[in-house]
Amino acid sequence: MEETKKTLLDDSFTSAMALTNSGVPQVPDRYVLPPSQRPALGSSLGTTETTLPIIDLSLLHQPSLRSRAIHEINIACKEFGFFQVINHGIPSSLVKDALDAATLFFDLPVEEKMLLVSANVHEPVRYGTSLNHSTDSVHYWRDFIKHYSHPLPKWIDMWPSNPPCYKDKVGKYSEATHVLHKQLIEAIAESLGLEKTYLQEEIEEGSQVMAVNCYPTCPEPEIALGMPPHSDFSSLTILLQSSQGLQIMDCNKNWVSVPYIEGALIVQLGDQVEVMSNGIYKSVIHRVTVNKDVKRLSFASLHSLPLHKKISPAQKLVNENNNAPAYGEFSFNDFLEYISSNDFIQQRFIDTIKKKSSP
Ligand code: OGA
Ligand code: NI
Repeated sequence: MEETKKTLLDDSFTSAMALTNSGVPQVPDRYVLPPSQRPALGSSLGTTETTLPIIDLSLLHQPSLRSRAIHEINIACKEFGFFQVINHGIPSSLVKDALDAATLFFDLPVEEKMLLVSANVHEPVRYGTSLNHSTDSVHYWRDFIKHYSHPLPKWIDMWPSNPPCYKDKVGKYSEATHVLHKQLIEAIAESLGLEKTYLQEEIEEGSQVMAVNCYPTCPEPEIALGMPPHSDFSSLTILLQSSQGLQIMDCNKNWVSVPYIEGALIVQLGDQVEVMSNGIYKSVIHRVTVNKDVKRLSFASLHSLPLHKKISPAQKLVNENNNAPAYGEFSFNDFLEYISSNDFIQQRFIDTIKKKSSP
């Protein structure tokens, strides 16, 4: 069974790293986007000069300043579904170690990485390229390793054994992001007027998927993307980027490049918070551009309720506003089922659970 799987994949699988290393002067046809979806790099059409929010998280720990931080979070979530955080408490050495381990992983020989390859989105540890190399109609200039990360002892033995430092370094970073995410979810609940302990038990037992992404230099960044426009299924995603490349869509549907800020982390609201807030907050649509000069790495830590736990609009927010629930309930597993059999680029998952009367 294992053998058959690998033989089949060997015929169709070429990583973005392998293409870059082979020195291809152009991207193969399967990476070429239709003109309307190209990123318009370098043109003023593609991006706008919007100032994106940066929040100093140390304020959350100072009783007299906490409400100010909560207010800033409320505004950022309403306007963008996105903010960067500084003074977040994760030491820079942990961040550097995790990035180093990821660099070593993606530099491994192809055969080593192929031990973990899978097109099955239910697999708890999965190496791949593009979004899903076996089903994508257009391919994206990205390689990734994704693994479940919480609770760590349950999953870590399944993580890559090479490079030897991987489990330790990425494990420490994963644990630190889990702690940070609990603080952020509390603050987000508070910013919605909910108890700060709202869903606390589910969040403690929740799942965490660490998507470690590698975007090698690309010979034709104007006609390809590292990731297409999408929102994350998570409640929130904590993103670490090694250089600029992420773009978010603002409320006027313009693409805005997220500046690289040394030491900062990016917080993105996912579909679970959109549902929980009954649409007061929206998940942020984002995409990744690539470039000719620098390989970019990112760690996207997707935090959500446990795999089978359904999230639904918070009763208090429905009652207070005299609204009907604007969304049906869903679980992380429902999302995985959806992307196994649907093209989520054509239709976002969250649009399938919106009630008809909502905007
Ligand atoms: C993701 C994602 C952004 C990035 O993995 O879902 O959006 O910058 N990543 O890699
Ligand atoms: Ni994403």
